[in-house]
Amino acid sequence: MKILVTGGAGFIGSAVVRLAVRRGHQVVNLDALTYAANLDNVAPVSDSELYRFEQADIRDRPTLDRIFARHRPDVVMHLAAESHVDRSIDGPAAFIETNVMGSFNMLEAARAYWTDQGRPQDFRFHHISTDEVFGSLGKTGQFTETTPYDPRSPYSASKAGSDHLVRAWHETYGLPVVLTNCSNNYGPYHFPEKLVPVVILNALAGRQIPVYGDGGNVRDWLYVEDHADALLLVVEKGRVGRSYNIGGENEATNIDLVRTICAHMDDLHPQGAPHDRLIAFVPDRPGHDRRYAIDPARIRDELGWRPSVTVEQGLRRTVEWYLDNRDWWQPLLARDGVGKRLGTG
Ligand SMILES: NC(=O)c1ccc[n+]([C@@H]2O[C@H](COP(=O)([O-])OP(=O)(O)OC[C@H]3O[C@@H](n4cnc5c(N)ncnc54)[C@H](O)[C@@H]3O)[C@@H](O)[C@H]2O)c1
Repeated sequence: MKILVTGGAGFIGSAVVRLAVRRGHQVVNLDALTYAANLDNVAPVSDSELYRFEQADIRDRPTLDRIFARHRPDVVMHLAAESHVDRSIDGPAAFIETNVMGSFNMLEAARAYWTDQGRPQDFRFHHISTDEVFGSLGKTGQFTETTPYDPRSPYSASKAGSDHLVRAWHETYGLPVVLTNCSNNYGPYHFPEKLVPVVILNALAGRQIPVYGDGGNVRDWLYVEDHADALLLVVEKGRVGRSYNIGGENEATNIDLVRTICAHMDDLHPQGAPHDRLIAFVPDRPGHDRRYAIDPARIRDELGWRPSVTVEQGLRRTVEWYLDNRDWWQPLLARDGVGKRLGTG
């Protein structure tokens, strides 16, 4: 299968690229290389004859048309997005431009190409989205595929907008789409502005570990390589027009997650232990959703997918990876905004 992956130099996109090439698929990685991108993320496969890279911006429609014509993909996996909630609070415009308008361009470029090909029914436009579109849960309940959308941050609103466009392109034009809404990912190659790498790298440096609010916000954590595996399954076997929620079956409060990472650090890097002495509660993010939880019954029952690692195993591997891969993350600390408190409103 020839897959056009957008955002393949980012965290999750690169996991998809690495796994797809290892499984023998041809991959065209389309990425604008924003602050969040890193071509080192795909270094393990970039010498493969199955791999191609196109530096392009999804806001640039003529370039998208040229890339479709040049590579003639069988399927599209659309992950390119602005992805950091805190940045969306400080600068929402980029989120609307890339996540809404960029996704619109991708849909139109894909539709033109698909029409030109004679509307093959095995073509797929797989749109990768987030559980954040569903809003915030109380102490109980889980998001299903029929939970009404209730986005509460500029990021989640922009992703919700793109999800609606994708469904509309299926209903109106018949474009064969599938959607996935996934919970919080963590793992190797995670850009060092997100919670898990911030905790590891601050613990390593003996710096304060900031925890927003009371630390009681609950997320459902999924190891990124399990997510990539689920995404390849959905693009191959998912039913057209359908969406699938993907979760890790690993709910944890932020503070429990942070303490678990500190415990792994104590074990793997005893200098500076106990690392949880560095934890500091800082003012909360405005509009911070309290709890997300995924009901993964559809992808489990229809497609037979389950996560392969527990959060304990995945966090251990992740801490080990950051300790072993300083050359990957050290240069990223100099990028704009990294290490600063963003999104205070
Ligand atoms: N990180 C999570 O926990 C999570 C969970 C569920 C869903 N998602 C979704 O998965 C996708 C990937 O998330 P991620 O965490 O890997 O993000 P990321 O920020 O690590 O990577 C995004 C990639 O998209 C590229 N990009 C951004 N704007 C672009 C543009 N205009 N044109 C072309 N490329 C552009 C960037 O250069 C970067 O390589 C996103 O759509 C996100 O909404 C993320």
